[in-house]
Amino acid sequence: MVILEISGVCFRYGSVEALNDVSFSIDAGEVVSVIGPNGSGKTTLLKVIDGIVKPVRGAVYVDGRSLGRYSRRSLAKIVGYVPQRLNIQPLTLYDFVLSGRRPHYVLTPTARDREKVVEALKSVDLLDKADRKLTELSGGELQRAVIARALASEPKVLLLDEPTANLDLRYQVEVLETIRKLTKSRGITAVMALHDLSQAMRYSDKVIVLHRGKVYALGAPEEVINEKVIEAVYGVRATVLRDLKAIVVL
Ligand SMILES: Nc1ncnc2c1ncn2[C@@H]1O[C@H](COP(=O)(O)OP(=O)(O)OP(=O)(O)O)[C@@H](O)[C@H]1O
Ligand SMILES: [Mg+2]
Repeated sequence: MVILEISGVCFRYGSVEALNDVSFSIDAGEVVSVIGPNGSGKTTLLKVIDGIVKPVRGAVYVDGRSLGRYSRRSLAKIVGYVPQRLNIQPLTLYDFVLSGRRPHYVLTPTARDREKVVEALKSVDLLDKADRKLTELSGGELQRAVIARALASEPKVLLLDEPTANLDLRYQVEVLETIRKLTKSRGITAVMALHDLSQAMRYSDKVIVLHRGKVYALGAPEEVINEKVIEAVYGVRATVLRDLKAIVVL
């Protein structure tokens, strides 16, 4: 079942063409990695899907409905967004994750809202730090906190912008495995911008390669991540070790 459809999307920041005629569709439960060099349009694509920026042309459909037909609140219930950069607020970790439940309750959070917060904190291994202030967390803990906030809202689509960027090796693997597990157990669809091509190969069902705002390639990781594409898009000669799912730059 198609959960996300992007159709002919174009977006510009003034004269900078950030997305140019981008089209693809994603099935429910898939993990999709968006890769491509700095400035290729990954963050912009995620922002378009989350309705933060509106395309100048084309349309985005979530769960069969055009984005324009969702209210901000109803979209926030089904699309969770983990940004590349976060403005730290003066909150405890618990209250920050609880803010992810905001689209679900009217005046005050219910027992179910609190349950979901605990569940989300557990899934990123941060429950023991629930009372800490955000300013007292390490970079990696903060990154996991943002993922927990997005999970707390029980999204159908989870958008993650470089979710492993601040994490040590162990948590890179844990976060990516958590994302994979959630997609398989709860049918959540994850779309994540990644820089690490090995991670993209290992953890995704589908890979989208962006190059200068266009979809350069799209398909199964082993089809898309190859020497030719890497050279054309990154300008780097590399060998893909398929058995190890590793990329060695020559
Ligand atoms: N707020 C902005 N105003 C003007 N131009 C912008 C803005 N944000 C991004 N751009 C430009 O749009 C293009 C796409 O940027 P985007 O942030 O989507 O790239 P990205 O693939 O996420 O890059 P990175 O890997 O560095 O995060 C770039 O040329 C960038 O300079
Ligand atoms: Mg980006």
